[in-house]
Amino acid sequence: MSSFLIVAIDGGAASGKSSTSRALSERFNFLHVDTGSYYRAITAEFLRRGLRIDQINEVKAALPSLAFGTQIDGRTARMQIGGRVVPESEIRGPEVTAAVSYFAAIPEVRTALLTYQRGQIDVAQAHGFHGLIMEGRDIGSVIFPTADLRFFLHADPVARAKRRELEGRADAVAERDRLDTSRTTAPLKIPEGATDIDSTFLNLEQVVEKIAAAIAQKLR
Ligand code: CDP
Repeated sequence: MSSFLIVAIDGGAASGKSSTSRALSERFNFLHVDTGSYYRAITAEFLRRGLRIDQINEVKAALPSLAFGTQIDGRTARMQIGGRVVPESEIRGPEVTAAVSYFAAIPEVRTALLTYQRGQIDVAQAHGFHGLIMEGRDIGSVIFPTADLRFFLHADPVARAKRRELEGRADAVAERDRLDTSRTTAPLKIPEGATDIDSTFLNLEQVVEKIAAAIAQKLR
């Protein structure tokens, strides 16, 4: 299975990871895994159960009952919790966006997701995909440090806040970055040896082309 490629894309809030990864997954028939959506799905579930961000012990106690599964939707993997995919409208809502970085900073929450995320390789291979493109904050540093290709996308914080504003979504981009960068476990950082791409003055197509060229070269 040496031709199965793993591509890791990390970056801060609203840095363009999802649009880039989606486009690449279509072009190369890779499974697209947005790990931010996993942290968001878990957050939605915690909130649904009435858990608050300061109830660390209760959150830890709830972890074994989450029963993760995966649903494949086109080329996108969606996390199931207890057999249910949490709807996009819920995971992108303001309550989840405001709480997610706090739950994501709890080491036990990250450990619970680590094995599941690594297992997405098996899911991708079982469904006949030619590779896996996984985006997040710690993919190239913790989840797949030996991925075939690792990228870090960054963009000026003002440009990123503007992207969210144009999408009509309430999001404290700089605050989430601060929380994600300063946590002790698996903080947001440029993985050693990753290719750094500044997308402040690049459009989506230009970023996609840069990464696509690197993938094409690996596949050659
Ligand atoms: O809104 P955006 O797409 O930029 O963020 P996201 O990728 O949906 O991630 C939401 C939040 O999940 C982040 O702010 C992090 O707190 C957390 N996260 C994480 O801790 N580790 C990951 N690998 C992915 C997301």
